[in-house]
Formats: sequence, C-alpha cells, structure tokens
Amino acid sequence: MEDERMMRVFAVANQKGGVGKTTTTTSLGAALAERGNRVLVVDLDPQGNATTGLGVDGRQFERSVYDVLLNDIPMVDVVEPTGFQNLFVAPATLDLAGVEQELTSVISRELRLKRALESVDGDFDFVFMDCPPSLGLITINAFAAATEILVPVQTEFYALEGLTQLERIIGLVQRNLNPTLRISKVVLTMFDSRNILSADVAAEVRRHFPDVLCKTVIPRTVRLAEAPSFGQPITVFDPNSKGAKAYRALAEEIMNG
Ligand SMILES: Nc1ncnc2c1ncn2[C@@H]1O[C@H](COP(=O)(O)OP(=O)(O)OP(=O)(O)O)[C@@H](O)[C@H]1O
Ligand SMILES: [Mg+2]
Repeated sequence: MEDERMMRVFAVANQKGGVGKTTTTTSLGAALAERGNRVLVVDLDPQGNATTGLGVDGRQFERSVYDVLLNDIPMVDVVEPTGFQNLFVAPATLDLAGVEQELTSVISRELRLKRALESVDGDFDFVFMDCPPSLGLITINAFAAATEILVPVQTEFYALEGLTQLERIIGLVQRNLNPTLRISKVVLTMFDSRNILSADVAAEVRRHFPDVLCKTVIPRTVRLAEAPSFGQPITVFDPNSKGAKAYRALAEEIMNG
C-alpha cells in the first residue's frame, strides 16, 4: 500500500477584518500548488473573496460550502478545480451569510465541517480554510476541523489587539472539541519597510509569539491587491513580483513543518 501523507488542515483566522487572511489563503495555496502539492481552499467567508480571487464564480454551482455546513453534503461534492494545476476550491456563496443563525439549532453544530472534510481525507496535502472576520460558529467549525491555525497579522500599530480574545476561543475549542489544536504559524502581512513603525510592530509580535512567527514577512505591495480582480493568484498574475516571491518563501517555510 502507498503510504498516505498526512493532510494538513489550516484555519486561516483573525477576527480583525482586512488583515490579509484571504490574500494569504489564495497566495500561499497557489505557491504550494506550484510546488506540486495538492491544495484545497475552503472559502468560509460569505463575501466569497477567495473563490472569486481564484477565478471561480461560485454562483454557477448548485452547491457550496453552505450546503456542507447545513445540509450534510460531503466536502468532496462541492470541490471544484480552479484554472491552476493542483489547486482546488470549495466555493462560498452569499447564502453562507445566514449560516451563523441557521446553525445555532443544528445538532453537532460545531462539528459539521470536520465531518464533511472526512470525505476528502488524504486527497490533498494542504487544506486552507479562509475564515470570515468573526469568531462565530463558522470560525468555530474551522477550528474544530483544523490541525493547525495560521494567523495573519497586519503590521500596524494595533496589530496585537484582539489576539487575546482569539487565543481564548482557541483554548475553548482545544478543551472541548479539538485537543491538539494550536496556532502553528503567525505571519506578518502588509509590512512597509519605509514605515519605521513596522519594525517595532514586528518586534512586539515576535515577543508575543516567539516560537511560531514566520521568518517570511509579506510586504505591502499594490500587485497583491490587484491580483484578485483578475481572478488570479499572485504567483500567476505577476510571478516575479515581490509579493509572489514572499508567498513562495512562506510556502517553503510551511512545507518544512
Ligand atoms: N501584502 C499586501 N499588500 C497590499 N495589499 C494587500 C496585501 N495583503 C492584502 N492586501 C489587500 O488588503 C485588503 C484586505 O486583504 P484581505 O482581503 O486578504 O484581508 P482579509 O483579512 O481576508 O479581509 P476580511 O476580514 O474582510 O475577510 C484587500 O484589498 C487586499 O487586496
Ligand atoms: Mg477575507
């Protein structure tokens, strides 16, 4: 029998909005796919930015992550190929916005995603779940299903704000649903080397997360902001850009454990 590689399942989470969760999900996913890894992006944000950013129109499918969470549809039934080799997406649609409400009365409401992912166990090397900017039931589902959490932190003055609350929720999930869950990676995003504050913020984040802060820092670059509107990950949109190189370096770090 072929030995089956462990599927690493990341929740990409930070309840703060606009810190680079989706950009990191699609760019890192694409960089890992480029290296020959089979990668699944699970879009858990009703805005569907990870879906459209990978050139997929979620509205054209009958089923989405919404059905996975509420209607017991296995993940394997909603996985779609992207136009990029080795890279797949479980698309989100706007109806996902109602899930937080609808899930509250459902049995094992925290474990829906975990169960659904069993249907793709071993099919991928990496799964990245792009969480919405909140700590509601969708994010809890991601934490229950994850083997690791990746926290993008925007390099700005209030970078660490809210992370205590995030860690408290992770602690709750650890004790009740997923004992081995941990933040395995913290990555600084939108780093601006011309801004003297950036170095201070980086030092502060390193003090708070001495063991898990990634060596790779993602620079602030307009190309990264432009790529999604072309439906392409940065590694395809502008393969030699600083952003593409940074996410390839991050992919390397992730592959090394
Ligand atoms: N390194 C970067 N340089 C420049 N712009 C960036 C960078 N990373 C992300 N952005 C831009 O910043 C905005 C927020 O990024 P992104 O959507 O990835 O954050 P998010 O955490 O997923 O947001 P939300 O909480 O709304 O889901 C987007 O317009 C994105 O294109
Ligand atoms: Mg997002």
